[in-house]
Amino acid sequence: METKIYKYPTEKEIECIGKMLRDGCVVALPTETVYGLGANGLDETAMDKIYQAKGRPSDNPLILHVPSMEAVTPLVREISETANRLMETFWPGPLTITLPKSDLVPYRATGGLDRVALRCPNHELCRSILQAAGVPIAAPSANISGRPSPTSAEAVLHDMKGRIDAIVDAGNCQIGVESTVVEVNDNKVTILRPGGITKDMLEKVVDTVVYDTHMVTGNGVPKAPGMKYKHYAPDGEMTTLVGDPLAVAREMARMMATLSGPIGLLISQEAYEFLHTMVDVSKVHCIIYGHHQDDTSLANKLYASLLEFNKQGVTHILAEGVKSEGMGVAIMNRMEKSSDHRIVIVKK
Ligand code: TXA
Ligand code: MG
Repeated sequence: METKIYKYPTEKEIECIGKMLRDGCVVALPTETVYGLGANGLDETAMDKIYQAKGRPSDNPLILHVPSMEAVTPLVREISETANRLMETFWPGPLTITLPKSDLVPYRATGGLDRVALRCPNHELCRSILQAAGVPIAAPSANISGRPSPTSAEAVLHDMKGRIDAIVDAGNCQIGVESTVVEVNDNKVTILRPGGITKDMLEKVVDTVVYDTHMVTGNGVPKAPGMKYKHYAPDGEMTTLVGDPLAVAREMARMMATLSGPIGLLISQEAYEFLHTMVDVSKVHCIIYGHHQDDTSLANKLYASLLEFNKQGVTHILAEGVKSEGMGVAIMNRMEKSSDHRIVIVKK
């Protein structure tokens, strides 16, 4: 199949893309977090195509994307006061809320669960397409299952060329890591996957916010089925280091001496300044993400850097992480998976 590219589509093209989605096509869409692989969330055959294109396990549910709060009503049994407050505060934005589903939502969308995940993206073009489609759009990240999520149309094309009907290109995603997924029960919010909306931000609006125990302990069955699968994995073997810039640089230099094959470094400006006085960095693929502990910049560059290292044939990646606080919780959740749990906390 030929994959058509719509770069910054016109109003007429937006109508056409909306119709394609309504009629069962799979179209990759930009959002503020990562690119999504969209299909009609009420059409089981269309959603089957998503699972096929991604090679995704069928028990892993999809998020339904809507253009507004109003569009949620037919999809759920009820909207609690807390859920309502969360939507009013954080939508449009990177918060996905799971609520008891109505009969309208097929089990194909929820992986057999009785709850449906809902999100209204903070991306104007995406919302215009959702509006034009007139149906909720199921959209997982637009990567082959297990690989880093795409934050540009080029990255989508790399994984999905010939596998989907179209890609809407609106440049790079603003945030770079996926939405926060929460389950809402009465007045309690459980974070199933950390993301752009942090625990602190949620606590400003609701009294009780907890992490799903699986996220904290790694034990038991995660409530978000996707959390149990291999994820965000680059081709090279990755290790994540966290600590002061000097300590990180020292440990990177020590590790580099033990590695053979092309190396990729994802590092802060400050750590890089120490590192290049310690070792010859001219032959490594080095990406400086921004200033030390700048989690916004790291979130923005993480997946794109891992995909760039794949392109360069890097066999070992040494990446500098951040403190697991605020937005850092989401970043370290992703880096831990990319690194297959090789996280090194370096001391001074
Ligand atoms: O930012 C995002 O959320 C992106 C963009 C495209 O919107 N989408 C995304 O989708 O990351 P995906 O499919 O890659 O991840 C969805 C996560 C998975 O971990 C899945 O298991 C969980 O949400 N999830 C979906 N529906 C659920 C439900 N009903 N109950 C619990 N977890 C659910
Ligand atoms: Mg994903």
